Amino acid sequence: MEIINRRQRMASVARKVRREQDRTIGLVPTMGALHDGHLSLIREARRMCDVVVVSVFVNPTQFSLDEDFDRYPRDLTKDAAILTDYNVDYIFAPTIEEIYPKDFSTYITVSGLSEQLEGVSRPGHFRGVATVVTVLLNIVRPDFAFFGQKDAQQTLVIKRLVRDLAFDTEIVVLPTVREESGLALSSRNAYLNEGERRAALVLYRALSSAKEAYAEGERSGSRLASIVQATVAAEPLARIDYVSVADADTLESLERLNDRTVLIALAVHIGRARLIDNITLNRKKNGVAANA
Ligand code: PAF
Repeated sequence: MEIINRRQRMASVARKVRREQDRTIGLVPTMGALHDGHLSLIREARRMCDVVVVSVFVNPTQFSLDEDFDRYPRDLTKDAAILTDYNVDYIFAPTIEEIYPKDFSTYITVSGLSEQLEGVSRPGHFRGVATVVTVLLNIVRPDFAFFGQKDAQQTLVIKRLVRDLAFDTEIVVLPTVREESGLALSSRNAYLNEGERRAALVLYRALSSAKEAYAEGERSGSRLASIVQATVAAEPLARIDYVSVADADTLESLERLNDRTVLIALAVHIGRARLIDNITLNRKKNGVAANA
């Protein structure tokens, strides 16, 4: 495993893999602080691709000034030790200047999808995500890039970006990895103390209540949202940012769900952490409904 810091070196290594060795490349973009969610992406990349690149870069442009860029957990030595066990070929861990050279002035905006849900509370967030992902895809030119469903809106934004700008990369989205308690794995869980961690279970509990109601026939978007809101409101340490019941592909808010594939998503503040989670209902696999 080699750790690469320079974009030129990363680009030339990747070019060689593609052209001279005719091998496929899988890219797993991360901001480090690796957990089992990232590892599930890396395992799948390892399974599908000849060469696996994991990027570790805490991207400043996707954080606004009042967010946690400065305190976001960073430990490249620990991350590299974990990745050695996963047979990763390259870690791409650039400095900020490598990704954003002096006078950097080109940003990518995926209109529409970026302004909803997370985009309301985090204006500019997806512009930062789309821009860094574009730079990473252009440097590595992977055959496949891997993302987690926990960041459901991010996966939609990136898929649209890749389609619109005709990147030659297939986006692979893998299910959210949860603790046995139901808590979705996230690097930001590190901000929670013991009591807050218990309180954080309310996110999945709330989503599960909505899923049960849906299974019992509830098809009103606002009533499902109320179930989620009421469950979270009963947890004193939790403060809701948003709850959304929307079309899983367009993020259009839904009142009558009918047979649409639905994304129920929420963001909740607990202590210093802002946590997000979601479930998809009525996801059709080969035309057959399958809930996750
Ligand atoms: O999901 C993340 O960790 C980040 O948003 C990503 C995709 C690595 C871009 O910085």
